[in-house]
Amino acid sequence: MKVLVVGSGGREHTISWKLAQSESVEKVFCAPGNAGIALDVECVNIGVSELDKLADFAEAKEIGLTVVGPEVPLCAGIVDVFNERGLKVFGPAKAGAELEGSKSFAKDFMNKHNIPTARSQVFTTEQPAVDYVNSEFEAGEKGIVIKADGLAAGKGVFVALNREDAIAGIKECFSGSFGESGYRVLIEECLFGEEASILALTDGKTIMPLASSQDHKRLLDGDGGPNTGGMGAYSPAPVVDDALMAKVDEEVLQRFLKGIQEDDLYFRGIIYAGVMVTEKGIKILEFNVRFGDPETQAVLYRLESDLADAMLKTAEGRLDEVELQWSDDTAICVVMASGGYPATYEKGHTISGIEAADATGAKVFHAGTSVENGNIVNTGGRVLGVTAKGKDIVEARKNVYNAVEKIDWTDTFYRKDIAYRALERA
Ligand code: AMP
Ligand code: GLY
Repeated sequence: MKVLVVGSGGREHTISWKLAQSESVEKVFCAPGNAGIALDVECVNIGVSELDKLADFAEAKEIGLTVVGPEVPLCAGIVDVFNERGLKVFGPAKAGAELEGSKSFAKDFMNKHNIPTARSQVFTTEQPAVDYVNSEFEAGEKGIVIKADGLAAGKGVFVALNREDAIAGIKECFSGSFGESGYRVLIEECLFGEEASILALTDGKTIMPLASSQDHKRLLDGDGGPNTGGMGAYSPAPVVDDALMAKVDEEVLQRFLKGIQEDDLYFRGIIYAGVMVTEKGIKILEFNVRFGDPETQAVLYRLESDLADAMLKTAEGRLDEVELQWSDDTAICVVMASGGYPATYEKGHTISGIEAADATGAKVFHAGTSVENGNIVNTGGRVLGVTAKGKDIVEARKNVYNAVEKIDWTDTFYRKDIAYRALERA
């Protein structure tokens, strides 16, 4: 069959690359893709929000399965459009995508279906939000989390350990920095612990976790600086041992499955649970309705089974026929970013060393690149996701940083401590 991947980031590069390895796949298209994706599969110049054009393309090319990478088209209803036209598609319908599109919708879902999560309240004006923050600190809370209630590419969240930072976060949301999503603000109890990302396939009848992973959301080494879309990831995450996974399955995945059935949410794709492992048990920080980026780079790098087959069966409601095999290796993805990210950064610098990095045995997934005058240049904040494997965490780190060091461009930076928690445990 022919497949179409929608998106243009490192996640979509990884999904396209993996689908292209599948025996059942005759050709992979990616819309719109990027400079690196074009090295592996055929890119098509259609934007992720051009839903009808994407469906026209899928129809004209007789695409057997469309896989939607990012949340924006899912929240816009791409799955509904494809379903109406009888086109097979991997993802949730618009109503289910609200689990990511609206943090307050997700909170209500979690509370209704008894999925453990942080205590929270919603505010639509500034002063009551400030008063609430003051009362929480007066009651002895050690921190508070301010969240713009909408899609903000991982940037509309402030984890504040004092009142001043919390109030600054509230002011930033209501100032319009995050557009519409800033005018509804969720204020949450601050949780302390280690995070893990649990991605699971579901077709609404069966739910099947993928290998565990851990992201690094903060910009700087040692988890300092602001939140980003994710600066690196690895799989498996040793914090997710068998006992923890059993708990996640019982308290999160099974309740999620029952919840979407009861609420009649059409969902045939990936559910991503951001888990905080606290002293008092697990709590869900967020749901995403798509693969994580950069978790996908590390997770799919370890997948030995046929991804196209698993995704097609998920889209057809036959996930119960799927079994997944994983390599015992550890995989790490290090994100190389443009200097200045997550704020403003310069674009258009020529990137050197990608071939040399690939030649070490690593795979360089492209997130924000394009071709100018025959050179690959940076065009995004997160630019490359260099991914490598090793028999254990020590070897995987050696391999991935050996590849990263081959790559350079003006002002690039990356975290040098990806997988430090796993290393501490080892
Ligand atoms: P979210 O987009 O809701 O996942 O938030 C992004 C990141 O902010 C998470 O991955 C956590 O690192 C952090 N975060 C979110 N909610 C909380 C919370 N209630 N307590 C502590 N950290 C949080
Ligand atoms: N890496 C975090 C996310 O994909 O939301």
